[in-house]
Amino acid sequence: MAALDKKQVINYINNMYSKEVIDYFQDPKNMGVITDATVVGEASNPVCGDMMKIYLKISDNEIIEDIKFETLGCVAAIATSSMITELVKGKTLKEAEAIEFEDVEQALGALPPIKVHCAHLSVEALRKAINKYRKTK
Ligand code: FES
Repeated sequence: MAALDKKQVINYINNMYSKEVIDYFQDPKNMGVITDATVVGEASNPVCGDMMKIYLKISDNEIIEDIKFETLGCVAAIATSSMITELVKGKTLKEAEAIEFEDVEQALGALPPIKVHCAHLSVEALRKAINKYRKTK
């Protein structure tokens, strides 16, 4: 079977993902590192190999003042990790903990069924960061 050319790859991605997923993949918000983060959460999926790190800067009154992510993974992994940062920035830890994978998926329009686990991974990374923070209190 012949390899796909660039145009075929772009067509494939456009047919597979919502406009929002493609936008967040091509222009991710809050990507990067917080060097003086209060806490960092990490999650990975051993099946697909994708990895996410969520950096949180948390104020004394438990507001997420800043949030960034680093993701090594698929189109949906990048889009979901970026979207979750947008959903929780400026929120309290309690509000952030209430975010479910369905909220991330809905904010991105939709995800193909085989990519729903990418939204789970973003929630897992966020919750691990928050749990880590709580253990220090
Ligand atoms: Fe596994 Fe996207 S394919 S996180």
